[in-house]
Amino acid sequence: LAGRTPEEVVRRYLQKVRNPPEEDCTICMEALAGPSGYKGPGVGGISRAESVGRLSQCGHQYHLQCLVAMYNNGNKDGSLQCPTCKTIYGGPEHPNPGKPFTARGFPRHCYLPDSEKGRLVLKLLLVAWDRRLIFSVGTSSTTGETDTVIWNEVHHKTEFGSNLTGHGYPDSGHLDNVLEELRAQGITEEDCLRD
Ligand code: APR
Ligand code: ZN
Repeated sequence: LAGRTPEEVVRRYLQKVRNPPEEDCTICMEALAGPSGYKGPGVGGISRAESVGRLSQCGHQYHLQCLVAMYNNGNKDGSLQCPTCKTIYGGPEHPNPGKPFTARGFPRHCYLPDSEKGRLVLKLLLVAWDRRLIFSVGTSSTTGETDTVIWNEVHHKTEFGSNLTGHGYPDSGHLDNVLEELRAQGITEEDCLRD
């Protein structure tokens, strides 16, 4: 992270928010829909259109300018902690940081029914993808390979028209199971209504 400006560091952990909710930013206590209450130096040039960001894993929203100010007041080590829920961004995420890892069987193709619930699950999976929850790096329970990209806690159907692998259809409980797995990762229907 050497050479990155504080704003660049903070942006790494944020998703865009097109329509800020009618809530206050809990850093400056001003409305998210209005300007940041923070008037300090070094955070000029943030345009109004992108003035609010959502932290990618926990989903809490703040003025970008407030997060930059908070980062500048800390030890500026490239990490950021959500002031609401204390989730840490930029800490070590890989089990063996710096060690190379493999990715097998990509692109992986997955199937959902084209039903109302199937389309809802698809939307929530996109939120999960943005929050980096679909894949992880670890040991594959199928192949035993270490340091490889593996499915994370949310199940996908990779077989269509048969069920030879046990990861196909029919499986009447699948969509409800996935909704439950998504909920366990903090993702609910509200997440796709927010913007
Ligand atoms: N399709 C969907 N999910 C799978 C599959 C599969 N073929 N195999 C395993 N899973 C599920 C497991 O039930 C478990 O919950 O993924 C989770 C992690 O299992 P691992 O075996 O560690 O996953 P990974 O190595 O990523 O996947 C194995 O999945 O999509 C295929 O091509 C991929 O052959 C690979 C297989
Ligand atoms: Zn948070």
